[in-house]
Amino acid sequence: MSIRRVKSKWAKTAVLLRSDYLRGHMPDTRLFSHASLQAMLDQYGMVYVKPVNGTYGNGVMRVEKMLRKSGFRCQLGTSIREYSTFDGLYTYLNWHAQRRMHIVQKGIHLLRHKGRRFDIRVMVQKNPRGAWEATGTIGRLAFPGKIVTNYHSGGTPMALERLMEGHASGMRLNMFQQQLNRLSVAVATQLEATYPGIKEIGVDIAIDAKLHPWILEVNTLPDPYIFRKLPDKSVFRRIYRYASLYGRFKRSKV
Ligand SMILES: Nc1ncnc2c1ncn2[C@@H]1O[C@H](COP(=O)(O)OP(=O)(O)O)[C@@H](O)[C@H]1O
Ligand SMILES: [Mg+2]
Repeated sequence: MSIRRVKSKWAKTAVLLRSDYLRGHMPDTRLFSHASLQAMLDQYGMVYVKPVNGTYGNGVMRVEKMLRKSGFRCQLGTSIREYSTFDGLYTYLNWHAQRRMHIVQKGIHLLRHKGRRFDIRVMVQKNPRGAWEATGTIGRLAFPGKIVTNYHSGGTPMALERLMEGHASGMRLNMFQQQLNRLSVAVATQLEATYPGIKEIGVDIAIDAKLHPWILEVNTLPDPYIFRKLPDKSVFRRIYRYASLYGRFKRSKV
């Protein structure tokens, strides 16, 4: 039986980067080190530092170069720290990492809804015919002031149409949704080539001001239940039906 779960964000990123199409939708990502952090802060001004094996938004930090004064600012949860030197910043982050592997990723300035950041989760599943199908999309609105949108970190799952009000509607939103589906199915296909056992993925996607979708991470144990929050109940019903067919709810071992 081939594996259904892949934990390492770094391993999954490496697989996706082999596709030219997907590379255009991946923020630059490197393993965390003194050199990579410095280079990426210089290049992008704002980055995210995340544990390679993290979940639920735990331990995710946003780090940026301050513009008005020199120095750096780092946010974890709602706590913000400032450092006047790069080495001060690095010492703190390195201590915080506690020798667990981390990645540094180019920060995307997420779209906002009523001042709060949001991103998107797309569910992709093997359908009864054995083909990949994008079965659900939901927006996730960050808790006020927070830098992660995860439900377990206080985020609110919400219909994409509502969150996209003022950013896109009608035809444009329709085409955007199709682009998200195509992108997410391509992610599944690409991962399956290396991990043939996978049956479902949840793709976390950031949208920038130009409405360009950026793949933040791919989950191989995506939560199906957030889709119960959608007003259209048929979405969750289909997700649940497909998941039952490939035995998602039977397995006690992961
Ligand atoms: N590069 C990034 N740019 C902007 N926001 C990010 C970035 N990486 C992560 N985030 C925010 O942090 C959340 C959690 O990060 P993610 O990589 O999905 O880790 P986790 O496994 O903890 O969910 C994302 O859903 C997003 O809101
Ligand atoms: Mg995530």
